[in-house]
Amino acid sequence: MTEEQKDLQHPQRKTARREMSRRQFLSYTLGGTGAFMVGVPILYNLRFAVDPLLQKKEGGEWHKVIEANKVTEEPQSIKFKVHVVDGWYESEQQMEAWIAKDANGNIFALSPVCKHLGCTVNWNGNPDYQNQYYCPCHGAHYTVDGKQLAVASAPLDEYTVRVDENGWVYLGDIKPNTRVK
Ligand code: FES
Repeated sequence: MTEEQKDLQHPQRKTARREMSRRQFLSYTLGGTGAFMVGVPILYNLRFAVDPLLQKKEGGEWHKVIEANKVTEEPQSIKFKVHVVDGWYESEQQMEAWIAKDANGNIFALSPVCKHLGCTVNWNGNPDYQNQYYCPCHGAHYTVDGKQLAVASAPLDEYTVRVDENGWVYLGDIKPNTRVK
């Protein structure tokens, strides 16, 4: 016996079957709409919550700072800005490098951050230490290559440097000093 024949014999059965379908339809529709309305904002906000953690850290960037033919054996202070992403917080950070060329014409750049407690060193910052970097906080001083001579226990860090085909100097990441032992 087919479903239709059963319905003809028991009309209330057909009504019950129809109502069940209607109820199921409403339940699926409302349930689906509700899930959509709740789920979409959650997923949307979750994306913002998780994204900064999944993003690659900035690094390996190069910053164009000076023409190579303007670099002298006398260190010059160069200031430039880097874009820093720290989790959800983004900012522009002012950086400084002391850039010079050695007797062989190789360009190098040192970080001004004192290796004692992190103050900022200056070239020829103290008349008692001619042609040296000097830190005003506790008197550390360094050679032109960044070698520590007093107070600090390590040489000044160094920037990675490259010169492009147009003669511009670019500074990259900061690394431990390679110029002194
Ligand atoms: S921080 Fe430079 S000497 Fe102490």
